[in-house]
Amino acid sequence: MSDMNVIYIGAGYVGACSAAVSADSGHNTLVYDVDKEKIRLLGSGDRDSIEASLFEEGLGDLLVRNSARLAFTSSYRRVSAALDACDAVFMCLPTPEIGETGESDLSYYDKAARKLAASLAKRNGGKQKKYVVIVNKSTVPVGMADETERIMRQAGVRNFGVVSNPEFLVEGQAVQGSLRPDRVVVGAKKERDFTVMQRIYQRFRHAPGVAYIEVSPKEAAAGKLLANFMLFNRLAVCFDVVGRTCEAFGDIAFENVRRILHTDPRIGGWGLYDSLYAGGSCFNKDARSLSHQLKGRGLGAGLVEEVYRANKRQLDRFLDRAEKEARFSWTGKRAALLGTAFKRNTNDIRNSPSLVIAAAVLEGGAEELRVYDPQAMASFKRVFPPSKRVRYCRSEAAAVESADAVIVATDWPQFRGLGDLLMSLKRRPLLMDGRRMLQHLYPRLRQAGFSILAVGSPFLKRGT
Ligand SMILES: NC(=O)c1ccc[n+]([C@@H]2O[C@H](COP(=O)([O-])OP(=O)(O)OC[C@H]3O[C@@H](n4cnc5c(N)ncnc54)[C@H](O)[C@@H]3O)[C@@H](O)[C@H]2O)c1
Repeated sequence: MSDMNVIYIGAGYVGACSAAVSADSGHNTLVYDVDKEKIRLLGSGDRDSIEASLFEEGLGDLLVRNSARLAFTSSYRRVSAALDACDAVFMCLPTPEIGETGESDLSYYDKAARKLAASLAKRNGGKQKKYVVIVNKSTVPVGMADETERIMRQAGVRNFGVVSNPEFLVEGQAVQGSLRPDRVVVGAKKERDFTVMQRIYQRFRHAPGVAYIEVSPKEAAAGKLLANFMLFNRLAVCFDVVGRTCEAFGDIAFENVRRILHTDPRIGGWGLYDSLYAGGSCFNKDARSLSHQLKGRGLGAGLVEEVYRANKRQLDRFLDRAEKEARFSWTGKRAALLGTAFKRNTNDIRNSPSLVIAAAVLEGGAEELRVYDPQAMASFKRVFPPSKRVRYCRSEAAAVESADAVIVATDWPQFRGLGDLLMSLKRRPLLMDGRRMLQHLYPRLRQAGFSILAVGSPFLKRGT
C-alpha cells in the first residue's frame, strides 16, 4: 500500500474521477471543493447520490470501494491541516472562456492557487519541511506552470515543485479511461518532481498499453491543447466536409462513405460520425484558447478559428434547414427534444447543442417543448425551468406523443430503438435526426409517411 498523501482541489468531472483513481491506486486522498452540495453527494457513500451529482459509469462503485482512503471536504481548515504531510496537490479548477474572447478565465485557478499558497507557506508550523508538488490538471495556457510558481514564491512558499499533468479523460468513459489511460503526461523541470509523480502513477508507469511521457511543463500543456484541437478538427472535417458532401448529393449514404474512409488506416475510424454539433466543456474553449495564445504571439490562427466556426455553422445549419428545406415553422407547434446531455453517457449539459435548440424553438414561437433525457434533465431544468411551455417527460414515448417535430439531439444508444415508437404514432412529425441515430430506418420511416431532416443526408421527403 502506498504511503502517499494527495489533495485534490476541485471535485468536478476531472477532480472526482482522478481522485477516485488515486485512492484506488492506494494513496490517501482528500478532495476539496467550494460546492458544499457536491461534496455532500460525492462523499455520501451512496451510489445513486453520487451519480445524481456526477454521472460517470463506474464512479459510484469506485468511490464507495475506496472510501477508506478517500475523504471529501468543503472545509479549508481540513485541507490546511492535511498539507503538513501532503506530497502533491492536484489543481482541478474550471478554466472557461471569457465571453467569446478566446481568453481563459483563470480566476478560479488563481483564487484557489493563492489560497493554497497562503496555507502552504504556513505548513509544518511555517518551517515548510515537507516537499510538496503542485500538480496542474486543469487545461490552462501554455505558460501556466511558471505563473503558478510565481504565485507560490510571492506568498513565501518554499520546498515545492510545479508539475503540469494534463487530463485526457473522455467524459462518459472517464472512469474506465482513467483506470486504463492511453498515456500519462508529466511535465516538470526537476528530477525530484518527476520522481514524486512516478510514485503517484506507479501503477501506470510500466503498464502495458500506457505511454508514460515525461516532458517539460510547457510541452505538457501545449500537448493537451493540441491533442484537443486535432480531435476537434477531425469532427469539424466530418461535419463540414464529409457530411456536407453527403447532404449535397442524393444517393450517398454517410455510413457507406464512412466505410470507404475509415478502412484506410491512415484515416482511421475515430470521430467519423456526423453530428449536429461537438459540444461539451472542452473542444470549443480549448481551440479558442489556442487561437488566442497564437494570436497573442503575433501569429495567425486561421485554421484553428475556422474549425471553431465550422462547428458553430453546423448547429445553425441544422436549425435553418427546418425552415429552408422542410418549410417548417415552430410557431404554435409542439416539439419533442430527445437528449439534453452534450453527448451520451454523461449528465453534463455544458455547451450542449440542446441549449441552443431549446432557445431557438421557444423563440420561434413553439407552443410546447417536451424534453426527455435519461440522465441530464436536472441540470437542463435549471436553465429552462418547467413551465406551461417547457415540459419534462418521463420517457421518449411521453415526449413524442402529439409532437409536430421530434429532434434527436444526443446519441444515447436507446434512441436507436425509436423506430417502433414513431411508427406507432397517429401523427407524422418532422423527424430531425441530429445524430443519424435512425439512419438504418430512414427508408421505412419515409414509406410510413415521415419527412426526415438528418445531418449527413439531403432533406428526405415522406413517401418518395
Ligand atoms: N471535463 C472534461 O472532460 C475534461 C477533460 C480534460 C480536462 N478538463 C479540464 O479540467 C479542468 C476542470 O474541468 P471539469 O470538467 O472537472 O470542471 P468542473 O466544472 O466539472 O469542476 C470544477 C470544480 O471546481 C470547483 N471549484 C471552483 N472554484 C474552486 C475553488 N476556489 N476551490 C475549490 N474548488 C473550486 C467547482 O465547484 C467545480 O466542482 C478544466 O480546465 C477543463 O478544461 C476537463
